Amino acid sequence: MIEHDVIIVGGGLAGSRAALEIARTDPSLSIGLVAKTHPIRSHSVAAQGGIAAVLQNADPNDTWEAHAFDTVKGSDYLADQDAVEILTREAPDVVIDLEHMGVLFSRFPDGRIAQRAFGGHSHHRTCYAADKTGHAILHELICNLMGCGVTIYDEWYVLQLILEEGQTKGVVMYRILDGALAIVRAKAVMFATGGYGRVYNTTSNDFASTGDGLAMTAIAGVPLEDMEFVQFHPTGLYPVGVLISEAVRGEGAYLINSEGRRFMEDYAPSRMELAPRDITSRAITREIRAGRGINPDGSAGGPFVYLDLRHMGEEKIMSRVPFCWEEAHRLLGINAVHQPMPVRPTVHYSMGGIPVNTQGQVRSSTDDLVEGFFAAGEAACVSVHGANRLGSNSLLECVVYGRRTGAAIAQYVQNRKRPDLDETPYLADATRQIQALLDQTGSYRIAQIRQQYQDCMTQYCGVFRSEEVMRAGIARLKEIQQLYNQVYLDDKGKCWNTEVIEALELRSLMIVGELILTAALNRKESRGSHSREDYPNRDDASFLKHTLAYYSPAGIDIGYMPVTITLFQPQERKY
Ligand code: FUM
Repeated sequence: MIEHDVIIVGGGLAGSRAALEIARTDPSLSIGLVAKTHPIRSHSVAAQGGIAAVLQNADPNDTWEAHAFDTVKGSDYLADQDAVEILTREAPDVVIDLEHMGVLFSRFPDGRIAQRAFGGHSHHRTCYAADKTGHAILHELICNLMGCGVTIYDEWYVLQLILEEGQTKGVVMYRILDGALAIVRAKAVMFATGGYGRVYNTTSNDFASTGDGLAMTAIAGVPLEDMEFVQFHPTGLYPVGVLISEAVRGEGAYLINSEGRRFMEDYAPSRMELAPRDITSRAITREIRAGRGINPDGSAGGPFVYLDLRHMGEEKIMSRVPFCWEEAHRLLGINAVHQPMPVRPTVHYSMGGIPVNTQGQVRSSTDDLVEGFFAAGEAACVSVHGANRLGSNSLLECVVYGRRTGAAIAQYVQNRKRPDLDETPYLADATRQIQALLDQTGSYRIAQIRQQYQDCMTQYCGVFRSEEVMRAGIARLKEIQQLYNQVYLDDKGKCWNTEVIEALELRSLMIVGELILTAALNRKESRGSHSREDYPNRDDASFLKHTLAYYSPAGIDIGYMPVTITLFQPQERKY
């Protein structure tokens, strides 16, 4: 059995920032960090546009209160305002701390960190490193971690959270290199496992974003919060769905329909292309539905709209958003200096997740906590984003709440002994589970079932939803779930068996998808990213509350939890 004081699952921004804080607080603690990829390949590395913080470098009139108000309004008033206050007050400090670690932010000519406009933010407050901000931050954090004695288990897949009688005791993990199984026993377990974009067929997320941490938490009997709120980023490059950063619009690009018109004037006249993402994604979807989308030959009635950068000029495009230019060039052969890019909404972010308090401690219900279990980042729901996240608030959440959770863990483990744990049944179960997958004699390939599942979620639980469509989706999803036992693996070996990992990831996708659809069906209103055609209005009287979805193989139970309102009373949301 492997022993640590703390085991962190996930090597992205939240996990690595937490590990660093624990090591800084008490260098004598033994910290393990497990990731199914190398940590610098975690999805945080793909974050582009920036990290929000009131530094007042571009706008001396900006305040943390304005940042908090924008975030709460953007969330359609579902965010917990105590958590938002912490996020926005601590933002400048965490960004300066990153700078001191060596993060290479872009600069104004006078040397201060540059800040740009972003959707839903009333001031220019997004700090950035061109359009590779996640890359710049994650690399520096991991470099800092390397010097702190944290044990990194890269390319290990965590199979199970060990939770006995309300207390987490460790995890079961599988080494991808050779199929070895190991049990880790720890005083505290932290999940920073990221999102689940791969539940859908078109996403900006990488292949590893399969919601494993969420599924393991749900299997362990812990509820998941607000899973119905799935963020569609307005500008996924058509047809692949990769991210074209909101920074492109922050720097001045236009959204244009088949009539050549900047249609955002019909949907958010005061903010235009920099409206929050839920509003912009709905606007694009409506334009396409109304026949004002564009076809690859340029004719009307097609599946995308244009993102037009041409008026920005080559120097600005190449210095501020070079990666987005490169993506369109590499994937579609488009030179955005001279041609518009085809874009449409793509699944980007999970507002919901593992419910936590502002110390990162996981909730087992409205009033209770799980002993020894912590979470932060996209996998967690604290909830600072409510029903819709503002761009550049997610890197911020990872760093603010990664740091806070790390500090809380460092305190929690003091003067505690490691839990009693018998590893034998966990090893036997995991061995049986892997062997059962290898022995299965079905007729389906993993990719076939995964594709059907992703298509189902995309068709039945997309930008717009209704009871009839979602009920049909749940029925279809149940049919596809039955196929899981008929999957066969070609590779029966132990060395780098990625089919085993894909089969386990498919299990995660299936659990997470069912939780999303069930929570969405039960929320009979429209709020933020959850847009019901049969309930088009927000209904504060009945639904100003968080969903808690409890999974079991027999079905999903839905409960609710109050929203914390401290600063701003809910009002109609107009832009
Ligand atoms: O558009 C973007 O660059 C994404 C930023 C974010 O999701 O925060």
